[in-house]
Amino acid sequence: MESIKAQRGTQDMLPAVAGQWQAVEGVMRSEAEISGFREIRTPVFEDTRLFQRSVGETTDVVQKEMYTFEDKGGRSVTLKPEGTAGAVRAYLEHGLFNEPMPVKLYYVTPCYRYERAQAGRLREFHQFGVEMFGSSLPVADAGLIAFANGLFDRLCVKNLTLKINSIGCPTCRAEYAKALTAYFTEQKDRLCETCLSRLDRNPMRILDCKSPECAEVAKGAPHILDYLCDDCRKHFEEVKEILDSANIAYEVDPTIVRGLDYYTRTVFEFVSGDLGAQSTVCGGGRYDGLVEEMGGAKTPALGFALGIERLLLVMAAQKVQFPEEDPCELYIASVGEAARKKAFLLVQKLRDCAVEAACDEMDRSLNAQMKYAGKLGAQFTLVLGDDELASGKGIIKNMKTGEKKKIDLDNDFEGQFAGISTEAADGEGLAF
Ligand code: HAM
Repeated sequence: MESIKAQRGTQDMLPAVAGQWQAVEGVMRSEAEISGFREIRTPVFEDTRLFQRSVGETTDVVQKEMYTFEDKGGRSVTLKPEGTAGAVRAYLEHGLFNEPMPVKLYYVTPCYRYERAQAGRLREFHQFGVEMFGSSLPVADAGLIAFANGLFDRLCVKNLTLKINSIGCPTCRAEYAKALTAYFTEQKDRLCETCLSRLDRNPMRILDCKSPECAEVAKGAPHILDYLCDDCRKHFEEVKEILDSANIAYEVDPTIVRGLDYYTRTVFEFVSGDLGAQSTVCGGGRYDGLVEEMGGAKTPALGFALGIERLLLVMAAQKVQFPEEDPCELYIASVGEAARKKAFLLVQKLRDCAVEAACDEMDRSLNAQMKYAGKLGAQFTLVLGDDELASGKGIIKNMKTGEKKKIDLDNDFEGQFAGISTEAADGEGLAF
């Protein structure tokens, strides 16, 4: 029979790498909480209209990449292609706007985009993201960028380039759209079909079309920075000033417009040279109009998301050391049925005290058990046989030093073992 494989663009997370995921997620969560963000979890699927309205009808994500299907009740639902829309919906639906401002949320979530799969570009991927509601101040933009920057430092990720731009507000964008339409109309023959349909509806979307020919045409397009209104220009200048004062290096890149429709003013991306074509590890910006568009009160907001798979690719390329997994502390080998049962009971006692311990579950010979203990990296071993059961005493062996210590099997076994094992923690390999 044909064997069934994982779907294209999806990845199994095997135990060998799950530890890395736990480590990076742990850092993200703790850094987010230190900075005042609280976790939000929203459903994996939502009403399709949520993404059409927020991400935007003319974006690649909505036009080409959504996993949309009808459920058994005839409703059109979509697997979330990103985290912002669901967070905004939940913020409105549950009245989080009644909480003290700014409301600061973070999430770790799977996302789904039907894209051409390649290294760093998946159909199921994971984002760590933050969203912040209520502040229109440039210090919030700079603070968010500083937070992302600090997070990469904590994760020992180097050589990222921070690119920033301002894409203005609806007022300045109206002027800009006219200039873009004029430019692209002259180059109409070179545009793909999707972009031709964007020409009247949303010419800015042509700037991030993935077709090589459109990208070539986009290179000569006018830049939004030349069209910013006074307020947007002032906001952008202040963001840069604060970043300068915090010694956060950045490049102003007027070609960054982001692939989602909701952005206003500041947009930014962290780009890695270690990642081939899919070089953007993290992207975000301000979206001052979205909450109102989704039915809420006028609320300035901003956020970013980073792709965890891409982050791990960069960390692998840079050979970042991950914390080592906790090894087995004690392996209790046994000879005979009665000894196996005793080993089982002693292991339960240790596990109750959060000590990682193991015993034979495979009916292995003593020799094979000791080999297995070696594979587990057991720091200590204890062998139980008839003699040990009869005397109620055993010998704990430190596998590193060979040192042996007597232990009473029937009297505070776990407490005695704790005493013996305290010197074993050497903290090696804790890279971040
Ligand atoms: P985005 O730029 O579409 O922004 O995605 C953020 C990050 O998700 C990207 O920088 C990338 O690392 C990762 N990513 C995106 N697509 C894929 C894919 N197919 N495979 C692997 N990784 C991928 C957003 O999603 C916005 N919601 C960010 C945001 C939050 N803006 C404001 N708040």
